[in-house]
Amino acid sequence: MRYRPFGKTGLEVSEIGFGAWGIGGSMWGKTVDDASSVNALHRALDLRINFFDTALAYGMGHSEQLIGQVLKERAEDVFIATKVPPKNWKWPASHAVPVKEVFPENWIVECAEKSLRNLGVERLDLLQFHVWSDTWMDQDGWWDAVDKLKKDGKVRLWGVSINNHEPDSALRLAGSGKADSVQVIYNIFDPSPAEALFPLCREKGVAVIVRVPFDEGGLTGAFTRETKFEEGDFRRDYFSGRLADVVERVEKLKPLLLKEAGSLPEAALKFCLSHPAVSTVIPGMRKAEHVEANVRASDGKTLSCETLDRLKEHAWPRDFYRSR
Ligand SMILES: NC(=O)c1ccc[n+]([C@@H]2O[C@H](COP(=O)([O-])OP(=O)(O)OC[C@H]3O[C@@H](n4cnc5c(N)ncnc54)[C@H](OP(=O)(O)O)[C@@H]3O)[C@@H](O)[C@H]2O)c1
Repeated sequence: MRYRPFGKTGLEVSEIGFGAWGIGGSMWGKTVDDASSVNALHRALDLRINFFDTALAYGMGHSEQLIGQVLKERAEDVFIATKVPPKNWKWPASHAVPVKEVFPENWIVECAEKSLRNLGVERLDLLQFHVWSDTWMDQDGWWDAVDKLKKDGKVRLWGVSINNHEPDSALRLAGSGKADSVQVIYNIFDPSPAEALFPLCREKGVAVIVRVPFDEGGLTGAFTRETKFEEGDFRRDYFSGRLADVVERVEKLKPLLLKEAGSLPEAALKFCLSHPAVSTVIPGMRKAEHVEANVRASDGKTLSCETLDRLKEHAWPRDFYRSR
């Protein structure tokens, strides 16, 4: 495993982090199996993953509790990032709704306290707002709560998770010096953060956490036109009416990607790691064999400039969450 600086914090995080939404259980169908999730977390620690991304909303604390349980057994020095859910439970954030309805001060503190208990730690390494709008930069309250949690020693670093496919909706924050990190969707289909967000983060020393590197599994090549998602799995909606399109696009990517990596998942992760602004990429993992496969992408070899250039033709702008 290779490590990268986490912005200007002086910390180093594993290039491959552990995305822990799926292990929370909610929204990923009924087959989520805690024993398999715990096994995956152990394998991640064995393979020197030191960055774990979770959220209070993932299974209403279940993802945090599983991580807490494994850390109690292993006592490893790792970096846990969690998130405060929006009080109105609305994803993505609406830019018209004031921050006091989404992140009022007492809500931020109450949620942070719950996450501390779920994880069984004294201090959260990184607390992220689970949605963000730059319109909140001019509104009061939220920063006082974050600042107090930091001063009280309950939170070490603070950042935000940016709305899906809206990387520019956090440019003011990224330029402000307030955020230690931003979390954003960046993958072969959506390379848009490389336009303005990534250069700004590099300039300001803001850490970048890349989420959804596989476009929710599409870019792993694991799906066929016949793939069915079980009841309760959000991907039933996410891929509804366009699975054939995903499969066709991935077929076209194969000759280009398999020249430079042993598998599609490895190539998809290497795409993300090829950008120097990126601190860590957090594929969603529920199985030890996926952990093993994904860690292989961290071998120091990024994609060639020629391939990166040709991948630009494969960008596929769309926003499932706004178009529902
Ligand atoms: N708003 C937010 O803040 C937000 C939103 C989304 C995600 N996230 C964070 O980002 C993380 C990653 O996003 P994600 O999990 O939604 O999407 P993702 O990483 O793009 O895709 C996850 C999917 O990829 C599959 N997978 C993982 N490794 C694989 C491999 N080596 N080979 C084949 N398939 C593989 C998983 O399989 P299985 O189904 O078999 O497990 C899962 O279906 C989340 O876990 C969460 O921590 C944050």
